[in-house]
Amino acid sequence: LKPELQINDHPEHQHGHEQSVRIIHKGKPYTIKPGNPVTLSMRPEINAVIFDLDGVITDTSEYHYLAWKQLADEMGYTFSREINEELRGIGRLESLDIILDASGVTLSVEERFNQGELKNSYYKELLKSITPENLLPGIRDFIDELKEHRIRIALASASRNAPEVIKRLGIENDFDVVMDAGAVEKGKPDPEIFVSAAEKLNVEPEFCVGVEDAAAGIMSIKSAGIFSVGIGPAAAEADWAI
Ligand code: G6P
Ligand code: MG
Repeated sequence: LKPELQINDHPEHQHGHEQSVRIIHKGKPYTIKPGNPVTLSMRPEINAVIFDLDGVITDTSEYHYLAWKQLADEMGYTFSREINEELRGIGRLESLDIILDASGVTLSVEERFNQGELKNSYYKELLKSITPENLLPGIRDFIDELKEHRIRIALASASRNAPEVIKRLGIENDFDVVMDAGAVEKGKPDPEIFVSAAEKLNVEPEFCVGVEDAAAGIMSIKSAGIFSVGIGPAAAEADWAI
């Protein structure tokens, strides 16, 4: 990207017909006429940042791992750190399906639901220990910096526990919009959660940035037409992987 775009009066336009060009730049219309050069900024603008929660704002992804591990050990399922990486950003029951698949186990609808609830009870027990100390390093300052620059902030989490987690972290009033699994029909990697967050913020996707630690989350951000920032190895496909 060049820092700016200059559209000058082209020599062709100076003789003969008085031609003008109409363009749309960053959502605004411009008419460029011969003799009236227009200078427009091509620098990307950020008006909103949409955060994933688990593994981005706080390390609850480790608690999800511990809760799945407890269930897997009790039930005799195959489970490992490697399988756990696939569960990042994936909904509760879909995560259970991945573990069941790896173990070659099929459950009835009811058993599947009950085991999802059981895992959640282990997870909720671990959540009790969460305090503002559990914010990942730099997050508090980053949120403050965004606010100083009047950049809007949203949460796009696949977790039904997201409202409780942000409350325990003491950041529930920092978000302009909170989207959790209950607010959308389709989970990540579908773009719905990021598209809806941008809509609720009233910011066009091209002026948003999404931050994720999950491969499914990066896919979701990208398909929403949003610039993606990926934290850690699972999110390496991001526009900016850190
Ligand atoms: C997040 C986590 C996943 C978790 C999902 C559902 O996306 O990254 O590991 O499975 O939320 O969480 P829940 O708290 O609703 O079971
Ligand atoms: Mg995550």
